[in-house]
Amino acid sequence: MFLGAGELGQEQIMEAQRLGIETVAVDRYKNAPGQRLADRHYVINMRDGKLLREVIEKEDPDVIIPEIEAISLDTLFDLEKEGFYIVPSAKATHTAMQRKRLRELISKEAEVLTSKYVYANTNDPDSVRAACEKVGYPCVVKAIQSSSGLGSMDVHSPKDVDEAIAKAKKEARGSGEEVIIEEFIKFDTEVTELAVRHFDDSGKIVTTFPNALGHAQIEGDYHSSWMGMNVAEYLPRNPENTRDMNDELAYKAQKRIYETTKKITDVLGGRSIFGCELFVKADGTDAVVYGNEVACRPHDTGLVTLQSHMNTLSEFGLHIRAVCGFPIPGEKNDDGFRVLKPVANAASHVILSPYDGHEVSYKGLWDCMGMEGVSLKIFGKPEAHVGRRMGVVVATAPTVLEAKRKAEIAAHKIMMKAGDNPWKGQTEMETRKHVVYGAKRQ
Ligand SMILES: Nc1ncnc2c1ncn2[C@@H]1O[C@H](COP(=O)(O)OP(=O)(O)OP(=O)(O)O)[C@@H](O)[C@H]1O
Ligand SMILES: [Mg+2]
Repeated sequence: MFLGAGELGQEQIMEAQRLGIETVAVDRYKNAPGQRLADRHYVINMRDGKLLREVIEKEDPDVIIPEIEAISLDTLFDLEKEGFYIVPSAKATHTAMQRKRLRELISKEAEVLTSKYVYANTNDPDSVRAACEKVGYPCVVKAIQSSSGLGSMDVHSPKDVDEAIAKAKKEARGSGEEVIIEEFIKFDTEVTELAVRHFDDSGKIVTTFPNALGHAQIEGDYHSSWMGMNVAEYLPRNPENTRDMNDELAYKAQKRIYETTKKITDVLGGRSIFGCELFVKADGTDAVVYGNEVACRPHDTGLVTLQSHMNTLSEFGLHIRAVCGFPIPGEKNDDGFRVLKPVANAASHVILSPYDGHEVSYKGLWDCMGMEGVSLKIFGKPEAHVGRRMGVVVATAPTVLEAKRKAEIAAHKIMMKAGDNPWKGQTEMETRKHVVYGAKRQ
C-alpha cells in the first residue's frame, strides 16, 4: 500500500506489478498518477488518523510505503506496534519529515558535518535576527516543517529578515513559528546519494551505493539531475564546470559521499532506499561533504535512474526489492563499499506548468520524443498549478554533459496550456541554472 501515489509512487507501483505484487494507491486527490495504475485505490485525507486506519485495516497490506509527509504519524506508530510493516519504520518516517529532528539526527547522532545552524521563533523577530547574526550572512531561513523550497529564503543582510519571517509563516506546513537558520554553503555541486539498505543472501542488512547523482535546484525545487558511469565528469563540480577531469579527486569525493551516507542511513535503519541530499565542495586534493537532508524513499532527483540503470534497478526498483526482501546485485569496491554501477550516462529535466487549471494539453511531443536517447514521461496529473511538475524528460548520451544538454533541449520543446490559455513553453517558465537556455535570466 502506497500512502501517496504521485509520479514517484507510480514508478514504484510499476516495479511491484512487474513482480506480480498486488498494489493499493492512496492519495488525497482523485486520479493521482499512481492511482490510475494500482489494483485498487482510495482518495482520503491521510492526516485523518481514523480514515487512514480504516483503509489500512480493510486492505491489511503486507507492506505500507509512506510516500508523502501529510500523514497521521500517530496512526503509523500505533499500526507499527500492532504489527504492520511501515517502510522503513514509523520512527524514521517521523524523523525525516521535519527539519529539526533531521538536523539533530544528521549532525548529532550520525556525527556528520552540516552547515552551522541555530533555531529561532518567528513570533520573536529579534530571535531570528540574532540567529542570523550568529550564523553570519548570507544564511538561509527555513520553516521547520516545509518542503520543495516553500517557507525558505536566502537572507543576505538584516534587511531581508522580515521578509524571510513572513515567507516562513505563509508557506510552512503548520504554523511556521519555528525556523532553522543555516549558514549558506557555497558548494561546488550538490548530490543525492541513493543508498539502499537491503537483505544480503544470509539475511543480514547491507547497504548498496549507486554512484552519486548530481542535481540543480531552483528556489529549493528540483529542476535537473544527472548520473554517469565516470563520476569524474561531475564530481566534485557540476559537469559544465569540470573542465579538467580529475579522477583522483572525483574518487575521493565519491568516497566521502559514501562515508557520509553510510553514517546517516545506519542511524535511520530498516530496509529502504534513502535519498541523501549532500553538498560537495572541492578542497585542495580532497572534497568536503556536508549533510543537508535525507528522505526515506525514492527521491525526485532520482528520476534520472530510469535511464541510467536497468529498469528493475532504477531507484524505484531498488526500493521495491529492498522492502520486499529481494536481492540487489552489487560488488565491493576498493574501499569496501558495496556499489551498483549505472549502465548509461543520463540526465533528467523537469516539465513545469505555466498555468493553473484543468484540461491540461501538451504540444511539442513529436519534436521531443523524436530525439535519439530521449524518454518523455508525462505524469497525467488532472490539475495544473503554476510551477507544478507535470512531467520529466530523461535522456542518455555518450557523456554526462551531453545528456544534461539533451534533456534540457528536449524538455524545453514541450509547451502546455490549461483550458483555453495560449500555448506556453518551458523557456518562458525558467532558464536559471540552465546550460543551453541559460543566457536569458541568469
Ligand atoms: N545551507 C544551505 N546552503 C546553501 N544552499 C542551501 C542550503 N540549504 C538549502 N540550500 C539549497 O536549497 C535547496 C533546498 O533546500 P532543502 O533541501 O533544505 O529544503 P527543501 O528542498 O525545501 O526540502 P525538500 O528537499 O524536503 O523538498 C537545496 O537543495 C540547496 O540547493
Ligand atoms: Mg531538499
